[in-house]
Amino acid sequence: MSTFRILLTPGDGIGPEVIEEAVKVLGAVEKRFGHEFRYEEETIGGAAIDRYGVALRPETVAAARQSQAVLFGAVGGPKWDDPRAAVRPEDAILGLRKQLGLFANLRPVRVHPAMIDQSTLKSGVLGGTDMVVIRELTGGLYFGKPKRRWENASGRQAVDTLRYSEKEVARVMHVAFQLARGRRKKVTSVDKANVLRTGQMWREVAIEVGRQYPDIELEHILVDACAMYLIRRPASFDVIVTENMFGDILTDEAAMLAGSMGMMPSASLGRRRKDGTGIGLYEPIHGSAPDIVGQRKANPLATILSAAMMLRLSLGLEAEAAAIEAAVDAVIRDGYRTPDIEGPGARPADTAKMGSLVAERLGA
Ligand code: IPM
Ligand code: MG
Repeated sequence: MSTFRILLTPGDGIGPEVIEEAVKVLGAVEKRFGHEFRYEEETIGGAAIDRYGVALRPETVAAARQSQAVLFGAVGGPKWDDPRAAVRPEDAILGLRKQLGLFANLRPVRVHPAMIDQSTLKSGVLGGTDMVVIRELTGGLYFGKPKRRWENASGRQAVDTLRYSEKEVARVMHVAFQLARGRRKKVTSVDKANVLRTGQMWREVAIEVGRQYPDIELEHILVDACAMYLIRRPASFDVIVTENMFGDILTDEAAMLAGSMGMMPSASLGRRRKDGTGIGLYEPIHGSAPDIVGQRKANPLATILSAAMMLRLSLGLEAEAAAIEAAVDAVIRDGYRTPDIEGPGARPADTAKMGSLVAERLGA
């Protein structure tokens, strides 16, 4: 029997509800495949601000380093939303990404055939959509210095800095090209090279790294045009790679192709070992959804699919990951829907029911 160490950080809002369902599904994996997942749990985000005065404690980062993977729920809520607050729930996720060196954020976007009518886009546009957006996660506008606010004679001033080194761009490019090799062999690098110096360097480095992957097609698109093409011809994309903030914006847009944020998993990865695995942080791309907390409406599938990515990318358990994905597909095909994805003829399911259906289909 193999044992794996996983840190759970449920966080705020619907975070604990969706993490509970992912753990339920992982329990079914343990039984069926004979593994043991050892969990530790840490309080983060707004809950940690209330309890400890900070969103992310050093103890939590240390616990993450002792683990093979972190399964993250969500952080934030109206209670901690004061724009002048010195500590914010978001510090937890930003701090974990940065301190664990998780520079590549993978956000797969697939349109399930049974859900194609759920999207606000026409099915003719959506057919065949299957892409992964790789968002650079530890640099760019989110982390560049200077980053501050001050006041002078002409009033309030603020600055954020968009800065990249060629090494930061190159390493995320390698992730993109390597991923494309196992897919349809196309990388779209997204920048703003017509205006930004960082965009010009980004494009240069993309071309240089691309030379090492002659089997992969490389195209460059400006970020504004990319926003347009995502809803005009989404099926033309295979792997998209882009700057931190551009990726934040484009992945919310891309999530709408799949019908709901509640379906969208993500993986944040750093340096990998030779066998391809390494510590990673796995989280649904949705937020803490304070409006539906405790109402059993949250869709746990994004977190369950994030757990599948965790098994594949940090624990090296490919068959187990594929089994979860197949079970989720089956539940969708059978018509079960949480409120965020309901439609005509759907079989309504609440958060716990959805988790149980997936676990059942794993046949443990
Ligand atoms: C995301 C979220 C985060 C981000 C927030 C919660 C800080 O929007 O993961 O996309 O901006 O990165
Ligand atoms: Mg976002």
